[in-house]
Amino acid sequence: MGRQRVLSGIQPTGNLHLGNYLGAIRNWVEIQSQYENFFCVVDLHAITLPHNPASLAADTYAIAALYLACGIDLKYSTIFVQSHVPAHAELTWLLNCITPLNWLTDMIQFKEKALKQGENVGVGLLDYPVLMASDILLYEADKVPVGEDQKQHLELTRDLVNRFNHQFAQPNQPVLKLPEPLIKKEGARIMSLTDGTKKMSKSDPSELSRINLLDSPDEINKKIKRCKTDAIRGLEFDNPERPECNNLLTLYMLLSGKSKEEVAAECQDMGWGQFKPILAETTINALKPIQEKYHAVIKDKGYLESVLRHGKHKAEAIANQTLAKVKTAMGFSLPL
Ligand code: AMP
Ligand code: TRP
Repeated sequence: MGRQRVLSGIQPTGNLHLGNYLGAIRNWVEIQSQYENFFCVVDLHAITLPHNPASLAADTYAIAALYLACGIDLKYSTIFVQSHVPAHAELTWLLNCITPLNWLTDMIQFKEKALKQGENVGVGLLDYPVLMASDILLYEADKVPVGEDQKQHLELTRDLVNRFNHQFAQPNQPVLKLPEPLIKKEGARIMSLTDGTKKMSKSDPSELSRINLLDSPDEINKKIKRCKTDAIRGLEFDNPERPECNNLLTLYMLLSGKSKEEVAAECQDMGWGQFKPILAETTINALKPIQEKYHAVIKDKGYLESVLRHGKHKAEAIANQTLAKVKTAMGFSLPL
């Protein structure tokens, strides 16, 4: 038996921040040697909200370069761009036709984003989870490593698999494979620097709310200096009254590589004035090697193109097989 397969993806919308890194990419890097991995840049998802055509291609390349910079290793992993493999869009159409509308209108992320959008919500935003299900199912992924916010989309994917197999597969011969989410407890939900009850997000209008992977040391110092804290001396994890405190200690723990116990002991008598410079320095040091590698990769367009070209071919070979199986099961005549 071969290795189990992993698939995950990130949208090329804006800069990646510490939430994306600690909730997703870092975990991909950690597990990649145990699996056969596919990491895509989900550019079709990036157009579900109004986007800037002038920067979409460059943003797509930037995310692929960040995957490499964060340590995705081509020995174990394939990196590709979602829109380069047409099967993603085609499977989405097929699955659309078996997806009950209310499954989509019930999605938390849809409701939140639609609310922000006001009246002009595109059909693509509603259909976002079906496209995501297609990403996963085309590769027959066993595991999908994501942050906590994607859990509901994974559940919908699993519901779609069961529905499809029930309608179109022979008993005990499933056509689509049931994937499992892989959500790590630590880092699964990194919170905003300006409000410890809101998740760190690319779409927060305030730059001060997040630390981007490509922020300069000055920016990191400034954001940590200005981040929200409380008036209590002594720092602690897991006090529901102190969400900012828990979040900042979690960041320190994950970025320093220290254990929770070590961090709890080290910081229990500290005040914010003492802790903030330590967190800033730890963050700057953790991001430095990623930033150096990123700048080297993004300069070498030829290399990045060859990675994505190779990724497309590898991904396409698998995706097209699954798509053909799905179409056969649904009764389509296949092209001659
Ligand atoms: P997105 O930025 O929405 O494309 O998300 C890409 C990946 O980062 C997904 O696996 C998300 O679950 C994860 N992610 C996004 N924001 C956070 C956050 N604040 N904390 C942890 N993980 C996150
Ligand atoms: N919806 C995911 C997010 O915003 C991104 C994504 C798209 C994804 N397709 C995927 C994640 C497939 C995992 C697997 O984070």
